[in-house]
Amino acid sequence: MSSPEHVHGGEMRTPPPTHPGVPRASVDLSLAPHAAPVDEDAHEQAEGEIGPTGRPLRHVDDPRPVVRHGPAQILAICNQKGGVGKTTSTINLGAALAEYGRRVLLVDFDPQGALSVGLGVQPHHLDQTIYNVIMERSVGVQDVIMDTGVEDMHLLPSNIDLSAAEIQLVSEVGREHTLVRTLRPVIDLYDYVLVDCQPSLGLLTVNALAAADGVLIPLECEFFSLRGVALLIDTIEKVRERLNPKLEITGILATMYDPRTLHSREVMARVVEAFGEVVFDTVINRTVRFPETTVAGEPITKWAPRSAGAKAYRALAREVLAREVAVR
Ligand SMILES: Nc1ncnc2c1ncn2[C@@H]1O[C@H](COP(=O)(O)OP(=O)(O)OP(=O)(O)O)[C@@H](O)[C@H]1O
Ligand SMILES: [Mg+2]
Repeated sequence: MSSPEHVHGGEMRTPPPTHPGVPRASVDLSLAPHAAPVDEDAHEQAEGEIGPTGRPLRHVDDPRPVVRHGPAQILAICNQKGGVGKTTSTINLGAALAEYGRRVLLVDFDPQGALSVGLGVQPHHLDQTIYNVIMERSVGVQDVIMDTGVEDMHLLPSNIDLSAAEIQLVSEVGREHTLVRTLRPVIDLYDYVLVDCQPSLGLLTVNALAAADGVLIPLECEFFSLRGVALLIDTIEKVRERLNPKLEITGILATMYDPRTLHSREVMARVVEAFGEVVFDTVINRTVRFPETTVAGEPITKWAPRSAGAKAYRALAREVLAREVAVR
């Protein structure tokens, strides 16, 4: 092995200065958000056209105007597989529902705090998060809810503290109903509460399912994604039987779809074959716009309002609203 002095063609290099005692976390790795792209004015498919699911697009009623807000439908955005688009879908579905006049609360229920980051909040700088509401009787949920850059969309943030709650709750009475108790004081103020779950089927996710009216399952169009869904559906059924009889699967959302690859199309066909009607007609294509919006700290509906991604999440919001009417 060559020593550091011998790399770069034998040129002598001074090793980078080391700072003993400076924790790695203090290194600033943030990216500067760049300007929003020139908007694309993406094509929107019409009813009856064959969509990416291979089915003709079903009729979806236009969302009805809201005359009175609340009580909220609670939707858990859930899949124990990591990186399938849960957080991205929570932010962008929430923002699209708000555009349709709904009052929306987004709940960051993942100690990673990615939902908070995606809305431009630095969660490790927060004094109080959902963790304090859960664990400290003196902290009310309204003390912690924050505005976001989107009108009528609010955030209940989280950070790494929440990982301790999972352990501390184990010995609590009624531990699976902690989230529903936490949300009760604000349920009448919102039309939708979207809970961004962490990638596990642990106690926090069970709390989200126990609180929810519906589960929205983002499913990456990739072979291995199909494997875990049976276990997820099994967990949903157990929660319905034992904790929350009203729980429904609102829909399965295919994400990261690449229409150019046979693999994506095959996985899509398999998902529709296995789950049928519950699969949304709306499919979210794979595009670099989504990682870009995370850096920008904004939903795609604001950052690139006419892009295909923004239009897809609006179409999803219309489907979600139509399904809600059918359930109520
Ligand atoms: N449709 C998409 N196309 C391309 N990239 C996407 C898309 N949706 C999400 N991403 C990116 O993929 C990564 C994972 O997405 P996201 O954080 O929404 O998934 P997640 O299911 O919440 O992950 P985790 O399980 O870690 O919470 C992010 O970098 C996000 O920007
Ligand atoms: Mg996430």
